[in-house]
Amino acid sequence: MAEAKAQRQRGGNAEDVSAATLAEAGLRFEVDGEIATITLDRPDKRNAQTSAMWSGLARIGDSLPEQVRVVVVKGEGPSFSAGIDLRMFTPEGVPGQGSFSSAARLDSTSFEQRLKEAQQGFLWLRRPEIVSIAAVQGHAIGAGFQLALACDLRIVADDVKFCMKEPALGLVPDLTGTKPLVELVGLAKAIDICLTARTVEAEEASRIGLAELVVAGGDLAGAVQDKIAQLLSTNRDAAAATKRLLQGARSRTLEEQAAAEGAEQALRLRALFGDTSA
Ligand code: ACO
Repeated sequence: MAEAKAQRQRGGNAEDVSAATLAEAGLRFEVDGEIATITLDRPDKRNAQTSAMWSGLARIGDSLPEQVRVVVVKGEGPSFSAGIDLRMFTPEGVPGQGSFSSAARLDSTSFEQRLKEAQQGFLWLRRPEIVSIAAVQGHAIGAGFQLALACDLRIVADDVKFCMKEPALGLVPDLTGTKPLVELVGLAKAIDICLTARTVEAEEASRIGLAELVVAGGDLAGAVQDKIAQLLSTNRDAAAATKRLLQGARSRTLEEQAAAEGAEQALRLRALFGDTSA
């Protein structure tokens, strides 16, 4: 993490994440000034996810150029992502990446290490310095739903279908999705969604707080651009400080949060109006 931060401070290096390696993992990555776009790019397989894809996501996070303020995560084709590659359930697994049965034979330390690496592909999307937006159309199933949940905001097309399918397959959601889901929709609704593995469509997603905005499919890219413009209209450092405050709010008392606001504001005031003559 410290090395990744140092690299970002050196200006990042998008080229460190080789386009060819990412393409092999089913990803595209583009940086345009303050905006980075990650595209899941296996449309013929409905952007099914593999551990190579999660490593690719983690590498993107590690080498994200420091100027980036907004990260868009989207899926090519009709679906955002149909979840984990179903070959993981077969004895052969995904070539070079193992299977669930090989994972089951790992000792607990190795398993935890492997899962932690996969989760790194998701966790960085919550960094205070950026705002991440999932642009979601069609199916977002299992790992696909969790990737959408890993982002700060979800802008969705009216054909969206969220489904936490893991419990139906004998698994638990383990790609960092359970906490944001509970925080967004509440415990009872999260239990309802996960333990029935039912599909949540656009109207409900909007009503229960899973989606910030629902638009017609053809308007998804434009709606994301509009949101980016709004996000970039605020002060970069104030936005990061405010996100830090908001992220910490649940775990603090009101008094602690008030103190945290004061600490952040003191830094802001010094940055904006501090004496620079010395
Ligand atoms: N893994 C691997 N391949 C997949 C996956 C997947 N998760 N999802 C779809 N594909 C492939 C299909 O096998 C098919 O490949 P083919 O053309 O070589 O036969 C292609 O993508 C298109 O899939 P269709 O099923 O034909 O597309 P359709 O639009 O009719 O249905 C849907 C889309 C509903 C997403 C369906 O593909 C599906 O149910 N996929 C599996 C979803 C799933 O159970 N994911 C695991 C969740 S649990 C977790 O993520 C941990």
